[in-house]
Amino acid sequence: MNIDVFTLFPEWFGWFSSQRHVSNVLAGGSSLACVNLREHTPLSGGQVDDTPFGGGAGMVLRVDVLDSALRGHYGLDPVELRGQRRVIALAPGGRLLDDALVDELAAEPALTLLCGRYEGFDERILDHLASDVVSIGRYVLSGGELAAMVICDAVLRKLPGALGHADSAAEESFSAALEGQPEYPHYTRPAEYRGWKVPDVLLSGHHERIEHWRRERSRERAGGAGSQPEGR
Ligand SMILES: C[S@@+](CC[C@H](N)C(=O)[O-])C[C@H]1O[C@@H](n2cnc3c(N)ncnc32)[C@H](O)[C@@H]1O
Repeated sequence: MNIDVFTLFPEWFGWFSSQRHVSNVLAGGSSLACVNLREHTPLSGGQVDDTPFGGGAGMVLRVDVLDSALRGHYGLDPVELRGQRRVIALAPGGRLLDDALVDELAAEPALTLLCGRYEGFDERILDHLASDVVSIGRYVLSGGELAAMVICDAVLRKLPGALGHADSAAEESFSAALEGQPEYPHYTRPAEYRGWKVPDVLLSGHHERIEHWRRERSRERAGGAGSQPEGR
């Protein structure tokens, strides 16, 4: 997997890349690179944005700046590029990220993530330069960097070598192994704490009953409010 992130804040990704599950995947031949939009802008003084036509608050990321950054980095007209690799613009109103989309992206050989800032992108970036518009939730962040990290994290941990134990990602919330449902509850020692007991079945050593209990709890969570603290 080769991921390029187009951002005004490449330094944000230094810490992220050093996290164990990310560095594991990078050590296995994947890459996570940042492209600084200011270094590719054709405008003077590192300008990347401008005031919105029609008036209103805030600044809008310019289409010529994104066009130039993508063209400069890939040596290809971005209109053609988006037919060859997923070029994902991050925006609050985009397609909501879920496990199915993460699986879809994890199967790609390469991804390009475009991080917005300020008021967001000139709409022509979404219409003509991006292949996808993705949202990590129906709320507004200050910029696309955290959204890009969420996508990278979710995608990279699906790749071989990311996690210490290969099975960790196979059976977890929303996976096919759990029929797309939330994961069942986990418990560890002590078996009783402040009167809060671990369910007897988990201490029984009876694998079939444990498996059955876990599937039932998973289905319960799917049918109800998910995992919520008792009494809330
Ligand atoms: C302050 S936001 C722009 C919000 C925009 N004016 C609106 O109301 O939809 C700046 C940038 O942060 C990123 N962003 C903010 N919230 C996001 C979300 N929930 N999912 C993905 N990206 C988000 C996008 O790249 C966006 O261009």
